Amino acid sequence: MELDAIIRQMTLKDKIALCSGKNFWETKKQEKYGIPSFFMCDGPHGLRKQEKASDMLGVNRSRAATCFPAEVTTASSWDPTLLQEIGKAIGEEAKDQGVGLVLGPGVNIKRNPLCGRNFEYFSEDPYLAGKLAAGFIRGVEAEGVGTSLKHFAANSQEKSRFNSDSIMDDRTLREIYLTAFEIAVKEGKPSTVMCAYPKLNGVHCSDSKELLDDILRKDWGFDGMVVTDWGAMNDRIQGFQAGCDLNMPGGSNYMEKAVLRAVKDGTLSEKKIDVSVKRILKLAFRAEALRQKNADCGYEKHHETARKAAEQGAVLLKNEDNLLPLDQNKKIAVIGAMAKNMRYQGSGSSHINPMKLSQPMAFLKHAVFADGCNDWGDTDDSMLREVVKAAESADAAVVFAGLPERFESEGFDRDTMKLPEGHLRMIKAVAEANKNTAVVLFSGSAVECDWADSVKAILYMGLPGQAGGEAVANLLYGKVNPCGKLTETWWRHYEDVPSSEICGTMDDALYEEGIYVGYRYCEKAGVKVRFPFGYGLSYTKFAYSELEVDADKKAVHIKVTNTGSVAGADVVQLYVGSPQNGIHRPLRELKGFQKVWLQPGESESVSFQLDERAFAIWQNGWKVPGGIYRIEVGELSVDIEMDGDAISIPEWQQGSFYEKCHGKPSQAEWEKMTGKTYVPKKLVRGQFTMDNTIEEMKDFSILMKVIYKVVEMVIARGLGIKKDYTNQNFKMMMACSVGSPLRSIQISGGIKGGIMPGLLEMANGHFLRGFGRMIKGE
Ligand code: BGC
Repeated sequence: MELDAIIRQMTLKDKIALCSGKNFWETKKQEKYGIPSFFMCDGPHGLRKQEKASDMLGVNRSRAATCFPAEVTTASSWDPTLLQEIGKAIGEEAKDQGVGLVLGPGVNIKRNPLCGRNFEYFSEDPYLAGKLAAGFIRGVEAEGVGTSLKHFAANSQEKSRFNSDSIMDDRTLREIYLTAFEIAVKEGKPSTVMCAYPKLNGVHCSDSKELLDDILRKDWGFDGMVVTDWGAMNDRIQGFQAGCDLNMPGGSNYMEKAVLRAVKDGTLSEKKIDVSVKRILKLAFRAEALRQKNADCGYEKHHETARKAAEQGAVLLKNEDNLLPLDQNKKIAVIGAMAKNMRYQGSGSSHINPMKLSQPMAFLKHAVFADGCNDWGDTDDSMLREVVKAAESADAAVVFAGLPERFESEGFDRDTMKLPEGHLRMIKAVAEANKNTAVVLFSGSAVECDWADSVKAILYMGLPGQAGGEAVANLLYGKVNPCGKLTETWWRHYEDVPSSEICGTMDDALYEEGIYVGYRYCEKAGVKVRFPFGYGLSYTKFAYSELEVDADKKAVHIKVTNTGSVAGADVVQLYVGSPQNGIHRPLRELKGFQKVWLQPGESESVSFQLDERAFAIWQNGWKVPGGIYRIEVGELSVDIEMDGDAISIPEWQQGSFYEKCHGKPSQAEWEKMTGKTYVPKKLVRGQFTMDNTIEEMKDFSILMKVIYKVVEMVIARGLGIKKDYTNQNFKMMMACSVGSPLRSIQISGGIKGGIMPGLLEMANGHFLRGFGRMIKGE
């Protein structure tokens, strides 16, 4: 039946009810109208379909599925077609498992290396992140399965993620934090977009008409459904006004009565609800049609895709004296517990139950092994003695190191950019015992590598998924030639990061460095980094020649040649360098990239298209400042002149951090730049709202303190451990419970009635009133 006809039959109450899920993962089925439900599950690097106990943190078991490498690794392939292939495979598995919507990909910008969820995001560069996400989306959607582009928008830290405020100027928002979403929406066409937990400039993303209607739908032409992140809905009435369609998870009936009243008293138009219902119906019927077809799903084939992705996403960071590839006939010492138990995916909602799992050790030959450390990353003198013995006995040593799970996870940010102390000691001991030492690294984001000069080779695997073991061996032995490039800057030390003095120091996120994120900062500031954005070695060499720009300045051509002796792939990167004598800008920005596969001696011509956006900045709209621009590919460059639009240079620019990137940004300069004055949130008993967390209220209310303690106890019991903040599951679950606003707890816990509002009254000191609300049920 036609969707409008169904909507005409529905009662207002049923329509409102449909706009919240049925349970943790499903929408509601309304049989009397013939409306089917559909099933959603995480994403993004595989399926996490929970069929029994559900949670948003990947703690309870899910059905087995292929665990592809996490985005940190697939992104380093710089290959949207590979992402599309992975998307297709995930789409096939979704059909096989009856999933209509995959909750991914995530395109939040890697603003700071310590963000606990960086492993789930693509890059510090929005152009690259957008293109890769579009590839993934195309792959999944072509299978008839929906995707959910997340977390819209500006959700680049885990600290206080449920109720922090991301505050920034318009230019930073548009050029850095929205561009990846824009490209992914326009080129990938996802069925849904997931709005983020934090507020953006003081407004909850779920309530934001500016974000969800003006920008997403009107500017970018998005015509799909907006779903909340799990528990992100703030004001359901404003949500409808803004175009936030589906409230997830379901079960709580959150604000449904209030919505009904708002329609009845004319504050909310029923038409707004109809529009949301229609978007939900569209997906529900699409998923239903898919369920009726037979799925053909090759999990074995997908393992091979996962292996290929891990190989192509690996980045060779160092290879002195061509230590790699290793000779398979020589004896090697394999050091580190991660060789037998590698870190292959991140913790939290994206955690997949892998179909199978290959560990590196199983694929390495003529190897003596020493643990070197335990799974927690700790070592001791006797372990180190074993390590030295093994390293001394072999022709070369390969150390497996990285970040154990407890170091990085959804729900909290990393404390440090360093590797665990045990891994550092292990690397040092091996490097001293064997001059031919290589390090294989596993982590979801950049780590400090003060030890880099002491070893000959470094191979960064990121989080390589279930086939990571085979991939490592193929790369080490040269069966596969590494071709990954970094998608984020590897800083020498955390202090070098432009946001290091501000990130993690307060609950709100003040984007003080503005547009100067990653390479945009270090290049302009002249800060030396360990490994730059876009960097990665190969077992062969490439040369560029014949760089040309067409007379109309719309296309660039270059010839790439494999000048080495083995086949390999290169990622040709095009940067546009901007005039520096007007409005402040980064020295250069990525505006094109292509991956080319070449046999030894082979050449290929590569072309890039340039549009206005390759030169534009945001100043109340996209505008091109006039001047000389430099088109750079590798070492080659061509200067071109662009006529410009009228641009005004703000008064605060001269001599400010933004002009030259000298030092670090200050709050005072940032306030001048944004025109905003930051007033930190005040916690006052009597003024708490549903947006406050148990953690925030516990020092003001004995009741909240007691609840806090009870939650600690229940979580520890549930995990079968004692209260332990070094356990990442415990830490993550605490952050996501006592760190959640009361409204999120109500929604995510499927808690009906007046319990949470009643508790709020009590926390505010009105015990009896609170009791009354609980009884009244509202
Ligand atoms: C995460 C989302 C995820 C959702 C459902 C949330 O906590 O932020 O990325 O899709 O849970 O598991």
